[in-house]
Amino acid sequence: MTLSGKIAIITGGTAGIGRATAELMVQHGAKVVVTGRDTARAKNIQPLIDSGAALFVQQDTTDEKSWDAVTGAALKAYGRIDILVNNAGRLIVKPVPDLTLADMRLMLAANLESVFLGLRSAWPHLKARGGAVVNVSAMMGERTASIGLAYSAAKGAQQALTRTAALEGAPFNIRVNTVLPGVIWSDGWKRLAGDRPEETKAGLSTRIPMARVGEPVEVARAIVFLAGDEARNITGVQMMVDGGLSAG
Ligand SMILES: NC(=O)c1ccc[n+]([C@@H]2O[C@H](COP(=O)([O-])OP(=O)(O)OC[C@H]3O[C@@H](n4cnc5c(N)ncnc54)[C@H](OP(=O)(O)O)[C@@H]3O)[C@@H](O)[C@H]2O)c1
Repeated sequence: MTLSGKIAIITGGTAGIGRATAELMVQHGAKVVVTGRDTARAKNIQPLIDSGAALFVQQDTTDEKSWDAVTGAALKAYGRIDILVNNAGRLIVKPVPDLTLADMRLMLAANLESVFLGLRSAWPHLKARGGAVVNVSAMMGERTASIGLAYSAAKGAQQALTRTAALEGAPFNIRVNTVLPGVIWSDGWKRLAGDRPEETKAGLSTRIPMARVGEPVEVARAIVFLAGDEARNITGVQMMVDGGLSAG
């Protein structure tokens, strides 16, 4: 029970990596506040809510005001905040000539500004007794791929934010780390694949040294480790969970 008694906020926790993280954190003894834009998706974590280990707060992470409701709900229900997982993010992949300024601004809002807003909201509460922040970036923020300019730029900036926050948080025992997923078979990918999941997976796997697409729980395990006290001497790192994609 590596997270026994800890209180965690997980953004975008109703699907994919965020949902797997919520489930695993609860298995490890945490209570979790899960956010997402679509209230209907809260049914995906209904068993956690029914068990009393989770609550759902409707939130768009890019909305500054929404953060007061999220931290307020955590404090009201559980009395403190130990862990923040800035997981929610968005992806737009287009060649440069097709990218609009609105696309660029959306990528920066969803993948960078939202992480800043979450960090700033949770900071005073984490500072009170020490805590951990895990930001979910992407392998594309580190080793860029063509036609991912806006996403890679936003995720890369998020990684710079993480390192800086790690330095600022260290004196207060606030650890700030990044997890970098490669290609993970999340709900997002399932939607994109439509009725061709196996072909899509096979196509994606050909570029990965370990020749397999990752599962959300494999990223969740890295997040749980970095969030827990076993990682007490680890801050400011980037942990790739990408089947070796970034090694080449
Ligand atoms: N899957 C991959 O291959 C992969 C690779 C590299 C990095 N990542 C990163 O991993 C993170 C999770 O991705 P995923 O693939 O697990 O996504 P996913 O399966 O599409 O799930 C996304 C979750 O985030 C929520 N969400 C999206 N935008 C939000 C917002 N603005 N505010 C609040 N909640 C929001 C969604 O619910 P609502 O739609 O209801 O809000 C959902 O719960 C993202 O940061 C992504 O960039 C994923």
